[in-house]
Amino acid sequence: MLARKLCLPLFASAVLAACAGHHRDDDELDPLLVAKGRQIFRYDTFGDGAKWTDQLRMHEVIASSVSPAAALALGIKVDVDALPPAVREGIRNGSIDLNSPRTTVTLLKLGAVVGILGRVETVRGQEVLERVGITCALCHSTVDNGFAAGIGKRLDGWPNRDLNVGAVIALSPALTAAQKAVYNSWGRGRYDPRFNIDGKNGPVEIPPAYGLAGIHKITYTGDGDDVTYWNRYVAVTQMGGLGHFEDDRIGVDVTNGSIDLVRPALPALRAYQLSLKAPPPPPGSFDYDAVGRGRALFVGKGRCITCHLGSKFTDANLGLHAPFQVVSEPEPNGAPSYASRSATKLYRTAPLMGVWQHPPYFHNGKAATLKEVVEIYNQRKALGLSPAEVSDLAEYLKAL
Ligand code: HEC
Ligand code: HEC
Repeated sequence: MLARKLCLPLFASAVLAACAGHHRDDDELDPLLVAKGRQIFRYDTFGDGAKWTDQLRMHEVIASSVSPAAALALGIKVDVDALPPAVREGIRNGSIDLNSPRTTVTLLKLGAVVGILGRVETVRGQEVLERVGITCALCHSTVDNGFAAGIGKRLDGWPNRDLNVGAVIALSPALTAAQKAVYNSWGRGRYDPRFNIDGKNGPVEIPPAYGLAGIHKITYTGDGDDVTYWNRYVAVTQMGGLGHFEDDRIGVDVTNGSIDLVRPALPALRAYQLSLKAPPPPPGSFDYDAVGRGRALFVGKGRCITCHLGSKFTDANLGLHAPFQVVSEPEPNGAPSYASRSATKLYRTAPLMGVWQHPPYFHNGKAATLKEVVEIYNQRKALGLSPAEVSDLAEYLKAL
């Protein structure tokens, strides 16, 4: 074990140099495949309108009662680049009514709603929302708020931690009161991708879809060896895309429709995700001297390096960890162990590049800040870090 080849994580900028020669899966990505994958990630529903329209009837609710203001309040984002100048101007000067569901239909027609695709047809002079479907971008993209809160340029791969996806689903008129209660209990930034499989309620934080190149265990529990495993899982079993997914380990065997729109999309979708780099910390967002001290603690007294190793700060490619070794269990509020519901029953050491970007932390969001993360480790692993050391270590994490 000690002979493992360590590629010591130093400081963000030094990592690549320290790891020179380390194989990087993103080196060989075909730019055409990446571009195609971007289209798919943003705009492909894989035919999931069957679920969101025919089954959940979301098109009816949206057209009758979801104004842009209401959608933004639920954390749904608007892509400013899809808005023609006249629409931008109308939003600025208030002549476009953000409190009218009809404006939502217009935005859908423009393809401006991140992660929700609508088919709008003009029937007797009226714009009618005929179908809706969702894309990967709903949960795994946000915007930079450059135009207004919730309206800006797309940031693909950034988890939408504002999105109350449970509350969005709960708008469906096709659900029972008991189902709605579960969906409404999840809160912002969280989704339970196993609830409709095992009936248990334990939502997890929507994770980033960036920084995954070179990591050969995917999901919080390392269920797949490649993003493709989970992409197919989520596209078929969660989004309702047309295609097939099966995994005996979790007793799942789902086929939607008689054609497969998911499978042909997978290679390009994979290339796009692997092309997405973790975002560097904003300048001035951490204290340089504290970072130096924190790095020494990460490697030394804090023993973080025993699991968070290499250029991605994870030992995922070497193995997974039993829940009792992992400080995020037991789950808050009596939720069932997330690992127990997975294929591996274990947890993957979280990669830490770009970790500054996506609070709260751990799969269940147990720690609100990076400082809280370190406090939890300090207590649970009896590390004996002083308060000054705790904040130095947290400062180091902010710089990754
Ligand atoms: C409704 C919200 C939602 C949608 C839509 C969604 N995901 Fe996810 N995604 C999640 C959640 C929640 C997880 C965490 C599951 C876990 O790790 O057990 C996740 C996990 C992932 C992971 C694993 C990340 C890691 O660190 O290993 C990848 C990759 C991913 N999603 C890509 C996609 C792609 C590609 C699509 C479209 C085909 C998609 N997701 C659609 C919510 C969503
Ligand atoms: C026994 C292996 C192990 C050790 C030692 C360890 N970690 Fe972790 N770490 C994990 C695992 C596994 C997770 C993911 C837990 C989860 O998904 O809830 C994690 C998650 C995290 C996260 C949350 C990342 C996110 O995306 O939410 C941070 C931050 C973190 N660890 C920092 C540290 C620091 C700092 C130390 C040292 C004080 C440390 N870890 C020591 C295994 C370890």
